Amino acid sequence: MAQLRIDILTLFPGMFSGPFAESIVKRAMDGGLIAVNFHNLRDWGVGRHKVVDDYPFGGGAGMVMKPEPLFEAVAAIRAGSSPSAPVVMLTPQGRVFSQRVAAELAARDQLILVCGHYEGIDERVRERLATDEVSIGDYVLTGGEIAAMVVVDAVARLVPGVLGSDEAAVNDSHSGGLLEHPQYTRPQSYRRWRVPEVLLSGNHAQIAKWRREQSILRTLERRPELLQGAALSGEERAMVSRKLQKKGEQAAISSDDILLGAEAVPRR
Ligand code: 6GU
Repeated sequence: MAQLRIDILTLFPGMFSGPFAESIVKRAMDGGLIAVNFHNLRDWGVGRHKVVDDYPFGGGAGMVMKPEPLFEAVAAIRAGSSPSAPVVMLTPQGRVFSQRVAAELAARDQLILVCGHYEGIDERVRERLATDEVSIGDYVLTGGEIAAMVVVDAVARLVPGVLGSDEAAVNDSHSGGLLEHPQYTRPQSYRRWRVPEVLLSGNHAQIAKWRREQSILRTLERRPELLQGAALSGEERAMVSRKLQKKGEQAAISSDDILLGAEAVPRR
């Protein structure tokens, strides 16, 4: 049995054939670590014409997805699996997806993802069927499918065994609330641009120290707001403080926010 079963409800199941026919997600599916099932909402469309959308009450532009196909599709999926499986609606009005949300979803044993389309989904679906609403960022897509692919990809790689040990998820950008350190590979010198000497030293303690520092400095430079939630030691916060002082950057982000920021939730 797969560790995580994902059911995707969509009007465009064909959109998923590309991304999931390659790569790590495919390997995880082939290996039985995750199971992804696609369901065409049209199969639960109303009447002979399998209608899935209709005009908005009150008027206005665009069409609205009807409630019946969504309620019936979810009921059918739950009847064949877990009656309490969470229903995650992909919508730009949802909570913003992040590594933390990915980890939360990856800990479940089943997810039903509902991809919205047209101008919206009947509000009763949001109120009485969805148990969660997720957006992948503050911009508007034509539908929830690409958002669902993003969620599946980010969640799948957190399922134990999906990544090989050489692809381990622990050191990635965002996993510890920090951006990843710079990486280098051969050649040692390319157009006379050299790889940092410490990485060639064979001194693993020094290398780990350098990487940690680079990770913190890079986060400070690019995404200072992330440092508030990152688990930094007192010594590391002192280093950040010195950097901020040197640059006189207190205007960009209050150093108190960073220095007094809450400790990150410990990660498993
Ligand atoms: Cl989940 N759906 C749509 N249509 N647009 C989005 C989104 C979702 N997340 C960000 N933009």
